[in-house]
Amino acid sequence: MCGIIGYIGKREAAPIMVEGLRKLEYRGYDSAGLAVLSGGRIAVRKCSGRIQDLQSHLAENTPSGVSGISHTRWATHGPATDNNAHPHTDHSGNIALVHNGVIENYQSLRDVLEAQDHVFHSDTDSEVLAHLIGYEYYKKTEPDTQERLLDAVRAALRWVKGTYGIAVLHAELPNVMIGARLGSPLVVGLGKGENFLASDVSAIVRHTRDAIYLNDYDLVAIGPNDFDVYSLDGGAAQFEVSVVDFSEEQAELTGYPHYMLKEIYEQPESVLNAMRGRLSIEESTAVLGGLNMTAQELRTIDRIVLTGCGTASHAAMVGEYLIESLARIPAEVEISSELRYRNLPTDRDTLMFALSQSGETIDTLAAMREGQRKGHRVLGICNNVASTIARESDGGVYMHAGPEIGVAATKSFTSQVTIMTLLALTLGRMNHLSASDGKTIIDELKAVPEKIRTILKQDAQIKKIAQKYARSKGMLFLGRQFNAPIAQEAALKMKEISYIYASGHPSAELKHGIIALVSPETPCVFIAPDDSVFEKNVSNIEEVKARRGPVIAITTEGKTELERICDDVIYIPKCPDYLSPLLTIIPLQLFSYHIAVELGCDVDKPRNLAKSVTVE
Ligand code: AGP
Repeated sequence: MCGIIGYIGKREAAPIMVEGLRKLEYRGYDSAGLAVLSGGRIAVRKCSGRIQDLQSHLAENTPSGVSGISHTRWATHGPATDNNAHPHTDHSGNIALVHNGVIENYQSLRDVLEAQDHVFHSDTDSEVLAHLIGYEYYKKTEPDTQERLLDAVRAALRWVKGTYGIAVLHAELPNVMIGARLGSPLVVGLGKGENFLASDVSAIVRHTRDAIYLNDYDLVAIGPNDFDVYSLDGGAAQFEVSVVDFSEEQAELTGYPHYMLKEIYEQPESVLNAMRGRLSIEESTAVLGGLNMTAQELRTIDRIVLTGCGTASHAAMVGEYLIESLARIPAEVEISSELRYRNLPTDRDTLMFALSQSGETIDTLAAMREGQRKGHRVLGICNNVASTIARESDGGVYMHAGPEIGVAATKSFTSQVTIMTLLALTLGRMNHLSASDGKTIIDELKAVPEKIRTILKQDAQIKKIAQKYARSKGMLFLGRQFNAPIAQEAALKMKEISYIYASGHPSAELKHGIIALVSPETPCVFIAPDDSVFEKNVSNIEEVKARRGPVIAITTEGKTELERICDDVIYIPKCPDYLSPLLTIIPLQLFSYHIAVELGCDVDKPRNLAKSVTVE
């Protein structure tokens, strides 16, 4: 996944683009570059490394001009080198392009172009697209016009198999910039006497909140004071101007050392936002208008399939327990990258949910499309409004968590679990849950944000425990029932930001092989709240202690007996079993965060990772 921002207007483009790239750095950060239309030619500056490396590179000579395109890269084809950084130009040097996505047939296209004496300077698929646009453009000899460039981009994209979000400049056309998207997000920002193209609005929200989220197969031509949206097949395309629902400040660090810590601390608010306006006290149920399903339609559902990747799949796993426990409907989780290729037998009354914070994860998008291909209704649970999954799904529930910039998902997880709870409540109240049961669930849900605040107050103590175990060679996370998925989620957090090998398992799996890993160097973290399987977890803790394994326990206030057998104990407030994942994950997010900081890791931009995996 990469970040793109283009500017065309009356101000110097370079500083606006560099500031915008900083907001997009979470999308990829192994190389960066920009191209500015300067003095009738395309001036390109690019290098491997981060945005600050590009800024040093620019310090000597920043190109001056009022239109430009820029890019921060997460490598898909070719290593992170200066030549592979974007922008790329065509063989004439008059056309520059930045690209987010994957051109799957780039090699065959490159062969055709090389046979036409095109010379390439990089290993990337994106450079092939730049040359293809140049090839199509210079086939003609008519005057340089916007139409000619649009036609060349359209013709080039028709050759392409794969995904793209692009911005294109031509040296002879100072008042136009072309954008196009298929499978990778691209948004138009509408300013006053200036317009923008960007991968997401966080790059441009400082300048404008009026945005057009392009659809797949859309092309757009923007100038300083105008824009036109077209479809790839030639005609005008439908579009709507949205108002961005968060401010630049919300997307800023606001005093926290890392976005991840900020987003952990936002969870009392983000969990509240996930349920805001969705709890009906008088009907003792949840109200999820976005499902686009009548009560009769919901009533017929006899199987639910939940799909997602990474943290989203762990939220789905909690959802499986919630739906089966509260709504008594069979539910199963299928990892999206598997589901998209599986021939999962499903019947008519199967309902699918696609969980995705970014709404752009290619595997989840493909799994959703496979479900729709089978005629199923697929509902999206996304954070990014107008993301591809949100727009292509048959309805769904927005998380309203605000921008999640840290690569490690935190508030998006608890928001997804909250929505899973609302869904289970809705379905449960259509089956066997009484009004009184529903009221109890609602009261307990409303108490969750304050309980999260209580846990966050223990941050300093959790930090001390984290520092004690920061140099472990490996870690095991163990939990049962509603907290078995929490063991996996906590292990993922640890792996992705501290690079410590960690794995999560149902506690009872210890004796089926996992216990061979127990040693004084391998702490076990037990998620053992005061629930129906607490005693079973205590037995597992004893097994580990008998083998001199260090044990950290996450348990409920009052269960002080664990202090006798555990090395460290972190307490959470009392809550029903089915809501405990919303609380047990909080200390574990902080635990992995503080270990990563202690180890000097780049918490917000961990190595090899990107915030959303929009390429296969
Ligand atoms: C989680 O911390 C990771 N960033 C990753 O597993 C992520 O959850 C996964 O890529 C799914 O992303 P999505 O929710 O945007 O689809």
